[in-house]
Amino acid sequence: MIKEISHPILKDRLTLMRCKETSSKDFRQAVEEIATFMTYEIARDFPTKEIEIETPITKCTAQILADEFIVVPILRAGLGMVSGVLKVLPNAAVGHIGLVRDETTHKPIEYYKKLPPNISNKKILVVDPMLATGGSSSAALQMLKDAGAKNIIFVCIISAPEGIKKISEDHPDIPIYTAAIDDHLNENAYIVPGLGDAGDRIFDTL
Ligand code: PRP
Ligand code: URA
Repeated sequence: MIKEISHPILKDRLTLMRCKETSSKDFRQAVEEIATFMTYEIARDFPTKEIEIETPITKCTAQILADEFIVVPILRAGLGMVSGVLKVLPNAAVGHIGLVRDETTHKPIEYYKKLPPNISNKKILVVDPMLATGGSSSAALQMLKDAGAKNIIFVCIISAPEGIKKISEDHPDIPIYTAAIDDHLNENAYIVPGLGDAGDRIFDTL
């Protein structure tokens, strides 16, 4: 399932991210803001449960989020989204998966994995700004399934049709949320029009 989240504020921040003159500071801020707004929109579908509380006036029944959450950024670029997601889900635990694309084959190479305990009964938001070939995100989703995760969603900012197809085929059970579906990949497997290398632009390592 692919769900494109459309909102004027998202479009505005996305344009800032795409623009090649945008500084790392402004790029980072836009990534964080987009992650916050996307999480807020995605959370419309999250179940709630009733609890009994006492206000200063009286006892009443109130609602809280039914799930516990884990955010898992795909390093490096996914790190830029974590603080934005945590603004909406402040009690979430954070796991990390380190993957980097080989520059020639474009296949992901794993270099780090650290996950919180008890992931099987928590809702997991895997975050990465870019879904290009889908190699990195598909590998990360498989690593989480292998570790016992059962309730996963994937949140990316810009996606390519090629990556959407791969995730839909490899992980038909995992919803993909994106703020934009771009045109295609170029010969270097970069998204067109895209925004260039998200990790380099977040961390000013161009
Ligand atoms: C980028 C991006 C994704 C991946 C997407 O990471 O953040 O993880 O590429 O490409 P794919 O869908 O073709 O796998 P990169 O490997 O450049 O590492 P970085 O985040 O450390 O820069
Ligand atoms: N990774 C990026 O950072 N950008 C792309 O366009 C593709 C992969």
